[in-house]
Amino acid sequence: MFNPVDSELHYKVLEHLPKIPPHLYAGSWLGKEHYTYSQNISFAYSTQTKVSPVIITNDINSPELMEWLRQNIDTNLPSVLYRKVLASSDQNFYPPHIDVRRNFALMYNLSDTGGDVVIWKEKGRPMIQQGQTLPVGAPKLFNDYSVLEEVHRFSPPVHTWYIINSQCIHSVEDIKGIREGIHISCGAYSPHVKALNPALV
Ligand SMILES: [Fe+2]
Repeated sequence: MFNPVDSELHYKVLEHLPKIPPHLYAGSWLGKEHYTYSQNISFAYSTQTKVSPVIITNDINSPELMEWLRQNIDTNLPSVLYRKVLASSDQNFYPPHIDVRRNFALMYNLSDTGGDVVIWKEKGRPMIQQGQTLPVGAPKLFNDYSVLEEVHRFSPPVHTWYIINSQCIHSVEDIKGIREGIHISCGAYSPHVKALNPALV
């Protein structure tokens, strides 16, 4: 039986989805007026050998951008986040983790500094762990790369939608500078998730 958090593919670049019109964000960056400061959540992780950059997550505060997303990408728009990673040359990764609040993440990089998205497997464990080895809702970070094996690595093109199964362990490596993107949560029955399950289409 199909497990709704499982998927045949672990990621896919969705070239067919429309690009966000640039006038909905400011130049090549999302303008400060387009996201909220009030819910600014900043944090940094540490791994055993390196320190990650500060990561800022905000709600989007632009009715025009939200309306465009609703009309062109997902009528439901369960959750849309703006995420900024303040990467520098020696803090240039987003550590391996499993998402807590979403099964699938539809993402759009606003900067061309995004680096490589890497999907990992914990050695000796299944690719998808939620509901099998993790309590639901428990955050899961991996600060020891030696327990992980790399399964996929890809460089999402800027201004292009891509989706990942975010119940797989994933990280971003080799970020080239400040990384900005828009992230939409997708449930198992989002139309975009079908792209990860071609056998079901
Ligand atoms: Fe994630």
